[in-house]
Amino acid sequence: MKRILLPLVVTILGVSCAGDDGIPVYRQSGRSVDERVEDLLRRMTLEEKILQLNQYIVGLNTNVNNIGREIEEVPAGIGSVIYFSDNVALRNELQRKAVEETRLGIPVLFGFDVIHGFRTIYPIPLAQGCSWNPSLVETLCRTAAREARLSGTDWTFSPMIDVSRDARWGRVAECYGEDPYCNAVMGVASVRGYQGEDLYLTERIAACAKHYVGYGLSQGGRDYTSTDVSMQSLWDTYLPPYKACVEAGVETVMSAFNDINGVPATANAALLTDILKRRWGHAGFVVSDWNAVEQLVAQGYARDRKEAALRAFTAGVEMDMKDDCYRAYFPELLDEGKITQRQIDEAVSRILRLKFRLGLFERPYTDSLPEAERVLAPEALQAAEQLAGESMVLLKNDGVLPLSGVDDIAVIGPMARDRFHLLGSWRCHGRAEDAQTLYEGLEQEFGSGVSLHYAPGCDFDGSDRSGFARARQLAARCDVVILCLGERAEWSGENASRSTIALPEIQQELVEALSTCGKPLVVVLSNGRPLDLHRMEPLASAMLEIWQPGLRGGSAMAGILSGRVNPSGRLCMTFPRSTGQIPIFYNSRSSARPDQGHYQDISNTPLYEFGYGLSYSKFVYGELSADTDRISAHEPFTVRVDVTNESDVDGYETVHWYVTDPCCSITRPVKELRYFEKRLIPAGATETFTFRVVPERDLAYVDSEGNPLLEAGEFRIGVKDRSLTLNLE
Ligand code: NOJ
Repeated sequence: MKRILLPLVVTILGVSCAGDDGIPVYRQSGRSVDERVEDLLRRMTLEEKILQLNQYIVGLNTNVNNIGREIEEVPAGIGSVIYFSDNVALRNELQRKAVEETRLGIPVLFGFDVIHGFRTIYPIPLAQGCSWNPSLVETLCRTAAREARLSGTDWTFSPMIDVSRDARWGRVAECYGEDPYCNAVMGVASVRGYQGEDLYLTERIAACAKHYVGYGLSQGGRDYTSTDVSMQSLWDTYLPPYKACVEAGVETVMSAFNDINGVPATANAALLTDILKRRWGHAGFVVSDWNAVEQLVAQGYARDRKEAALRAFTAGVEMDMKDDCYRAYFPELLDEGKITQRQIDEAVSRILRLKFRLGLFERPYTDSLPEAERVLAPEALQAAEQLAGESMVLLKNDGVLPLSGVDDIAVIGPMARDRFHLLGSWRCHGRAEDAQTLYEGLEQEFGSGVSLHYAPGCDFDGSDRSGFARARQLAARCDVVILCLGERAEWSGENASRSTIALPEIQQELVEALSTCGKPLVVVLSNGRPLDLHRMEPLASAMLEIWQPGLRGGSAMAGILSGRVNPSGRLCMTFPRSTGQIPIFYNSRSSARPDQGHYQDISNTPLYEFGYGLSYSKFVYGELSADTDRISAHEPFTVRVDVTNESDVDGYETVHWYVTDPCCSITRPVKELRYFEKRLIPAGATETFTFRVVPERDLAYVDSEGNPLLEAGEFRIGVKDRSLTLNLE
């Protein structure tokens, strides 16, 4: 009865809300977003409102014969779709249905996973973290936003800021590594890049911080498993990047798949409502992950889809991705009094607000521009190459790099002429044919003065060793071997866990076969996770981690090998010696017996620690100094260190500033990154790096309820192996 009466009431109110000139308030772009939302909400029927809370998928099958059917299957008044296509005409056709064939003409919000580029694919987020260059990350997210918006996507499900310390989990590729601060800074940079100052500008898109929260703790690295985490760790490690993105104005947040401490993240009111919305004031909306609402049944948290809808919605998930539970059950749940009109209105308002802010009511359609005007702009490709270069990490160099005096180079390995795997997972609309191979990068770099000789050696996996002999022959004839190894793109990303982080045995065997040819062996690694390299490392003269570098990885890698580019990437995730060392990360808490309890069969230290990475320059750090020897809670102070480039090569150095609180009422990690800065230090020059310490921000920590504590006593501030001890009064 209630529902039948509603449209009438709405119409009456609607008339009274028209402006003087008869144009409804919600259609007047000069009105504030809140006024427009309020007016539109008053006009909507229950059915129209519920549709806004659902997201369908479309565009997976763009065969011309199916396009009509795809469009038909999506209800005209749907809130959002995940748009898998970049076909602007199909998008506009779907939008036309919403705008012209529904009573109120509310536009659809088109979302997609623009994770590391739209068509111009740049390095995976894990690599971006290693660049320590947030402003470049921001630039590339701006590029991605432009390509996406011009191709009909309004909203990306990025950044992923799940702190991850288990390299078996395939999704480590999608985040910025093991440190909360690095994830926060890079997450904020990408939110800024996507959204800009004003989303109303047509070339920006809404961002989505995901997956809230604790997804990075998947047990044993197996995707979708439950996570068990103390509230102290949540506040210390997993929540801070989200808080930072909310403060930076991220428009949306995606709830995670995982059960967390017994309450799935998709139905976790304490996290979604109490912390995210009430405490932090997130004003946007929360979207569930794919089918995650109905998965509450599989997780044992809801008896059926209807109860799942109730649990997710009342916990704070406003939009149901893909599984249609909200649309199917909200009318009944409302009749039964389990959810209220008010709750629905509040949720719909959050979604409508974004649509107004994006300017979708004024510009629902996407112009049909030629491809050359939408994607792959030369500046975008150039920035992708720069980011690729800055994210590559030189792991080992016995002096063979940069290459000099070589006439013949053997280029060997399954990655050498591959285009596809260099793009990594979540390659959006990236195409292998746009990518430059590593071999092409070398050709371009070394030109005709050097001869390149190629042999695949082996495949990424399997047991076919028939190519080894030819590879060895080539190696014996050349001055140096560049061996290009790594992971297939589908070995990382979602649902791509591995029980070992070593490369398949066949690749290790190829290294062994080539290592006895008497030629320097430069191993180039392209992969989506830290690897176990402890057997490979002793056999290589040099090792360069290039990650999955995107379209311009070839020239970036070749630039480093030739010396045109001085490597400046530093690890944002620890490389263990073996899979059995996992979890191993730099900011663990102190052991009761630091000298005991070690593994008997392997060293206790990682192979390459967080922050590690070699350069062609030699950086020498001076002593640290502070501008005061008495610090107090409310007075910021500055710590400085001189770094000298004692070489004849200009180089970028990243100074990581760590804080240690050696004794306090809740134990702290042995050290915590609080600030970093990357800067060019010309050959022979000294640069002074400073850290402006705000004690309440940088020396404080939180308790298990998220309340800040700043305790008097000793603090250590450190860079590299230097540190300074200060006393807080
Ligand atoms: C599932 C993934 O977990 C999430 O990251 C992604 O954004 C959605 N699918 C949509 O594709």
